[in-house]
Amino acid sequence: MSAPKLFSPGPVLVKANVRNALLHYDICHRSKEFEAMFQDTQKKIIKLFNADESYYAVIVSGSGTSANETVLSSVVKPGESVMLLRNGLFGERLQEILEKYKTPYVDVSFPWATAFDTDVIEAQMKAHPEAKIVAMVFHETSTGMINKAYEVGQLCAKYGRKLFTDTVSAAAGQHIDVVKNNITFATSVGGKCLGAFPGSAYVIAKTAELEQLTPDQCHNVYLNLYKHYVSARDTHQTPNTPNVNLFWPLNQALTNVFEEGGLDARVARYEECAAIIRQGLKDMGLKLLLGDADHKSSTVTSVFLPVDAKTFLREMEDRGYVFYIGKADYAKQNMIQVANMGEIYPQDCRNMLRVFKECLETVKNM
Ligand SMILES: Cc1ncc(COP(=O)(O)O)c(C=O)c1O
Repeated sequence: MSAPKLFSPGPVLVKANVRNALLHYDICHRSKEFEAMFQDTQKKIIKLFNADESYYAVIVSGSGTSANETVLSSVVKPGESVMLLRNGLFGERLQEILEKYKTPYVDVSFPWATAFDTDVIEAQMKAHPEAKIVAMVFHETSTGMINKAYEVGQLCAKYGRKLFTDTVSAAAGQHIDVVKNNITFATSVGGKCLGAFPGSAYVIAKTAELEQLTPDQCHNVYLNLYKHYVSARDTHQTPNTPNVNLFWPLNQALTNVFEEGGLDARVARYEECAAIIRQGLKDMGLKLLLGDADHKSSTVTSVFLPVDAKTFLREMEDRGYVFYIGKADYAKQNMIQVANMGEIYPQDCRNMLRVFKECLETVKNM
């Protein structure tokens, strides 16, 4: 079988130099060579988020959920609660973590694919002074909507709250800017917009907040932000045995963003690809979940099919293309998600659309 074209929101197609980075000779995570590469990777993550010297990055071996769990199980102090803003599946995943750790939270929910109402959020902030941490998803992957991080960040500044954004599907795909958006904690992974492999996650946070963490307030042994921070700060290492071999590709993928012309160039490529995909799907008469006025991401397009989505996805897989089925009820409505993360260029999108159109006709006639 030949390699499939992954138009899925992770895992993604990686550049050859990222794959080749896996072939690096084996090193020990307690060696000077690891420490140097670890520090170099931290610096590049900080740059990716347009952060200044008041921020610090730690790297967690695991998926996006592990980074989210590291933050949410570590940063809430006794007597505090979290204000959860959600409008999709990945907001619900944050909720699942809060529930699991029995963390008190104020649930501010909006219907899926609906923009946050900042008046509602402001009223909730006034009513809940104990909700010191506001948690939200930056790019709600289940719909493809970019949430109002800037507006929420402004409210957090006004009411003295700390903003945690899950930027798992946004880092290297959107302009995040933790300083401008007043973000205190953010999480992401290598295996999405950055173009590395799944299995590497990271947390970026204000150093002053990390300095205030105590071992007692962290409720997980492995996904422990205090341990990760102290270990990184004092030894330039991870507390446990990390996925050493995945650090090299992660580092290379970060370098690739800067060599492509920086984050602006990467986002511009993704926007161009998304525009081609969206126009192509509309030209086929298909309906997109988000309208032109909605704040669509540069990498995920949610589209309803006039045929059985599962059959269509199987047929496309036979033709070498992989997408995602829509989450929850969207699947029943035959919605699929077409992503353009990683090594995907405008011509790949045009080629994909040609096959998409033919396949749609085939499935219609089945
Ligand atoms: C916004 C967001 N948060 C969290 C996750 C969970 O990440 P993982 O499946 O890597 O644990 C995802 C996965 O797609 C995501 O898109």
